[in-house]
Amino acid sequence: MARLDGRKILVTGGASGIGRATCELFAREGASVAVIDRDTTRITGAQAIACDVSDATSVTRAVQQAAQVLNGLDGLVNAAGVFFNKGLMETTAEVWDTTIAVNLTGTFLCVQAAVPFLREAGRASIVNIASGVGLLPTGGGSTAYVASKGGVIALTRALAAELAPTIRVNAICPGPIDTPIFEQVAPTKEGADLRRAQDAAAVPFNRLGRPEEIASTVLFLASDEASFITGVDLQVDGGMTAV
Ligand SMILES: NC(=O)c1ccc[n+]([C@@H]2O[C@H](COP(=O)([O-])OP(=O)(O)OC[C@H]3O[C@@H](n4cnc5c(N)ncnc54)[C@H](O)[C@@H]3O)[C@@H](O)[C@H]2O)c1
Repeated sequence: MARLDGRKILVTGGASGIGRATCELFAREGASVAVIDRDTTRITGAQAIACDVSDATSVTRAVQQAAQVLNGLDGLVNAAGVFFNKGLMETTAEVWDTTIAVNLTGTFLCVQAAVPFLREAGRASIVNIASGVGLLPTGGGSTAYVASKGGVIALTRALAAELAPTIRVNAICPGPIDTPIFEQVAPTKEGADLRRAQDAAAVPFNRLGRPEEIASTVLFLASDEASFITGVDLQVDGGMTAV
């Protein structure tokens, strides 16, 4: 028997990187998967719904559509996110607003829209993809991103308390993971690869993580194997926040 047999799970940000690897693994483990993303052109093998997670009206519509297509929902993974490599004095109001709107408000909106369906399922799980920098900011910079991810970790704890025992809510705090998000860090391929190398050197394992290594952790937290786990922020970072 597969680990998510019969489950109905909505994944945001499933067109790329961590979200995409999660969708692929979930499908292999027997789940029916719907994906919300602002870019649905790259989504394969899952029900794709175009939606900007920072827009309350489209989130409500998209989550309802997902629940209709899947005939209910018993899981939600919030992986949609944006990154701006801007320190305090470079962070414009627009960068701040966009980062908080997508990473933090988007998580809140998707949870709020999904909870009636998750409650109806009787037993459900939410996994939020936060970040190690939300626990321990390293090296300065990306001020708005750090604040948004710290918010996701705090929100996860608040929701875990509020939604127990029916809905478990957990966060994963990845270290640097090799995904297209690095292309948001630097405008050129060379710049992005330089940042990849710098980030890898800061990890005790001396490498970037792979999206599949986060997906397998999402699978654990979403499955019944984690049936007594809620409110945690699980670091998956090759030891980065341990040293
Ligand atoms: N890659 C890393 O090093 C790393 C580390 C820690 C945390 N994270 C977090 O993991 C999550 C996934 O990141 P990734 O590395 O896979 O990045 P990615 O860029 O590969 O994927 C992000 C996905 O989110 C979607 N998205 C962005 N804004 C959206 C919006 N407003 N509405 C709907 N969809 C939107 C994008 O289209 C994309 O498909 C993010 O929350 C990111 O902050 C990533």
